[in-house]
Amino acid sequence: MPHIKVKSFNTSSLDTLIRDNDKFEFRALVEHSDDELLGVRYEDEEFLLEIKKRGDEYLIKPDTVSRPLDVNKIKKMLAYLIIEAKLEVLHSNIALSPYKPPLAKDANKKIKDFETPKFTRDKVAIEVGFGSGRHLMYQAKNNPDILYIGIEIHTPSAQQVLKQIELQGIENIWIVNYDARLLLEMMPSNSCIQIYVHFPVPWDKKPHRRVISKRFLEESLRVLDIDGELELRTDSDNYYEYALETFSAHPKISFAVEKNLDLAVISKYEDRWRAQEKDIYTVTVCSRLLSEQVDREYDFSFKAQVSKLVELPKEPIVKKDFFIHFERRYNLIGSDSAIIKCAFGSFDKPEHKYLYFKDQGFSYYPQNPVKTEPNYHAHQHIGEIVYG
Ligand SMILES: C[S@@+](CC[C@H](N)C(=O)[O-])C[C@H]1O[C@@H](n2cnc3c(N)ncnc32)[C@H](O)[C@@H]1O
Repeated sequence: MPHIKVKSFNTSSLDTLIRDNDKFEFRALVEHSDDELLGVRYEDEEFLLEIKKRGDEYLIKPDTVSRPLDVNKIKKMLAYLIIEAKLEVLHSNIALSPYKPPLAKDANKKIKDFETPKFTRDKVAIEVGFGSGRHLMYQAKNNPDILYIGIEIHTPSAQQVLKQIELQGIENIWIVNYDARLLLEMMPSNSCIQIYVHFPVPWDKKPHRRVISKRFLEESLRVLDIDGELELRTDSDNYYEYALETFSAHPKISFAVEKNLDLAVISKYEDRWRAQEKDIYTVTVCSRLLSEQVDREYDFSFKAQVSKLVELPKEPIVKKDFFIHFERRYNLIGSDSAIIKCAFGSFDKPEHKYLYFKDQGFSYYPQNPVKTEPNYHAHQHIGEIVYG
């Protein structure tokens, strides 16, 4: 991850930049610590830089919740900060490589692009956890009339595939770096012809982290158009049996099972399992019914009273279908407001965001959460705490 180490400096000198330069938005201090946050904006990205005192040096790096996928934007912002704040650099890894291709800009999508999505093809397919992207790119190149939405939680995989899309000039892929279990809930009903889940992590010891679940199946059936298919491929006997159990428990679906199918494209994981002569199961669920559109007009805006921010509960709040954990509070310099690191939402698919309190209101930083019921219930509860 791009970072710089600089000679000790007076961080209050950044306040002039915040006042005069629109790339710098705010500075916030954590209580009982030297750690600081600097809110910055580079082109269309808003993110936080952490400033950590280490003896006579400062380490400055992006925080993991808000950092953009495009590493070059982080590097350019750090380089800009060095010049504008006149920092003395001791070490850095922010040189831009002329050999590394940029990320495909138009393919790089965020949650807000799914609020009222404008798909660029009439037909849409989804691949969950595309890893190296071999299957995703093969499908996109061979079916130019279909838009492929690849959802991958692992940031380096999403970055790599965005580079490949740029290099190969592929125009019918969208990439989203998010938890697919959450993002699926933003998709319109009956909008997809196919959902691929190939070689999901088996999570034998933490089954609640599995992609396939009763809820995921229901959401897939809602998102799939009539005759659309959910295709699971796995080499794991455990996962195969678990999937059969989950699918069989649904009263309205039928599914087909095939063993050791030969496909035109073999994913990186499949290659590995084939070399070990493992059995590979393909389970295909077909959607037979039209689903109603879901009305998720959740409003994630808020009012807040600054006085309430002082008394935020330290322990996680656990309710039946959601939780809230205010993890860390940073006080904004030059105002009595705050930015609070928070985890919330459903227990097995939590959201991690900052709550940015400003001008008697607050917003999620760097962007709103996914519109799911647990997120909205958590949001309403946060509202009660911060406004009363
Ligand atoms: C075992 S790899 C398989 C990759 C690829 N499908 C293949 O066959 O080569 C599983 C992939 O799923 C991704 N993944 C796991 N949980 C996910 C989730 N909830 N949402 C999106 N991607 C997820 C992982 O990051 C990983 O890249």
